[in-house]
Amino acid sequence: MTSKIIPVDEFDYVVFGGTGDLARRKLIPALFHRRSDGQIVGNSRIVGVSRSAMSNEEFRKFADEALDKYIGSDISNSNEAAAEYQSQKQDFLQHLYYVQVDASSDKGWDKLVKLLGNEDRLRAYYLAVGPALFGAIAERLYSNGLIREHSRLVIEKPLGHDLKSAQQLNQTVGRYFDESQIYRIDHYLGKETVQNLMALRFANALYEPLWNSAHIDHVQITVAEDIGVGSRSGYYDKSGAIRDMVQNHLMQLLCLVAMEPPASNDADAVRDEKLKVLRSLKPITSSDVHQMTVRGQYGKGAIHGQPVDGYLDEIDGGESSTETFIALKAEIANWRWAGVPFYLRTGKRLAERVSEISIEFKPAPHNMFPGENKQFKANRLVILLQPDEGVKQWIMIKDPGPGGMRLRHVALDMSFAEEFEARSIDAYERLLLDVVRGNATLFMRRDEVEAAWKWIDPIIEGWQENGQKIHKYTAGTWGPTASIALIERDHRTWNEDLDS
Ligand code: BG6
Repeated sequence: MTSKIIPVDEFDYVVFGGTGDLARRKLIPALFHRRSDGQIVGNSRIVGVSRSAMSNEEFRKFADEALDKYIGSDISNSNEAAAEYQSQKQDFLQHLYYVQVDASSDKGWDKLVKLLGNEDRLRAYYLAVGPALFGAIAERLYSNGLIREHSRLVIEKPLGHDLKSAQQLNQTVGRYFDESQIYRIDHYLGKETVQNLMALRFANALYEPLWNSAHIDHVQITVAEDIGVGSRSGYYDKSGAIRDMVQNHLMQLLCLVAMEPPASNDADAVRDEKLKVLRSLKPITSSDVHQMTVRGQYGKGAIHGQPVDGYLDEIDGGESSTETFIALKAEIANWRWAGVPFYLRTGKRLAERVSEISIEFKPAPHNMFPGENKQFKANRLVILLQPDEGVKQWIMIKDPGPGGMRLRHVALDMSFAEEFEARSIDAYERLLLDVVRGNATLFMRRDEVEAAWKWIDPIIEGWQENGQKIHKYTAGTWGPTASIALIERDHRTWNEDLDS
């Protein structure tokens, strides 16, 4: 089963940082797929921009190699599939162009102006560069007359490292682009199952009456990675898990679970509701940060049986108190959620790559099967984000067979890969084209980003004031034992058997 593809009008996508890692791994493959699937048609162009000298042909070769590396292995071995891939690739590459521009000086801009020409087509400027360059690029786009009614700006984290810097960054780009033209990416919002969470909650009448503190005991959000920081240690060591993952991805997931039903799927209707959640989060301050958060850092260990270095070795043996793991308990002070903790955890070099949201319902009020106390478990709804997308609804049933009444906790299990034949599309494919379609529902508005920082800043300050300890954990485990204590103190446990 494939979904209906509606082609978009011709556009120009200008990627600053066009020869960088994000372009190579994500943006070029995503745009290739959208063209091959027939959503990008005609003479839509992708323009790579960076400081290096490169011809169009060299840029096409760079993209050709990126495609072979990042999607070539997904192409089936049949001659037919290989030939189709080659022909789609040739078609895609023809629409790639390159311009050498120095973002922080006037060099090269005239060539970009010339290439883009006067046609009033949609232009998206994707800044796949460090945030320090956002202002300089926006200013030069403006002074070169490149910002028009149909121009859009796409930016991605880090969107500041605290509230103040986020406000400055928003002000800087806001000088040249209207808020309605700015698309702030959080790629988690483009993930299939994250959107499915919206469908599950708001396209079904079943869950909404139960979706509150009367019926839900608590919520767990886990985003576990098995990778380490690799070559990104320069950036990561200054950010840590709280800035890299919690301030954006985990808080966005929390918003989608906790928000009130928006009146429509329009960008502002959804973002208004998410903002209300962010503003209702109970502050974690210096006095309770120790109770509410746990920081960890991985040491040496093994991932899937392979020995791996610890964090300090990965950052060249230096000293660092940056957290690569965080667990925290968030509370939402509003009518729907008062008294329902949201336990969040994320970390690198954990046992597996698995992300899920687990809604733990309250137990049935009375057990009329007294011999079955141990089996008598509460319902749980698990939304699996990755690697296997799906939904599991855990319920109690009678254990089949003769004899007495025995109970069993089983999952109604829907794996999307098994249910649907369609290729699972990468978040960037959806988001890049949403920019072209002018659909901002899955992008963060300025006030959301700032509200998230407003909640995060006191946590980081509390850590600094209290010199909060970093707990070491062995790579390949589920993080420091202190994170288990965080939830067990409330007589609850992490859903360790993430496959159960
Ligand atoms: C990025 C973080 O935003 O998300 C990375 O900077 C992290 O540190 C990545 O590895 C995780 O994304 P995904 O899609 O692989 O879960």
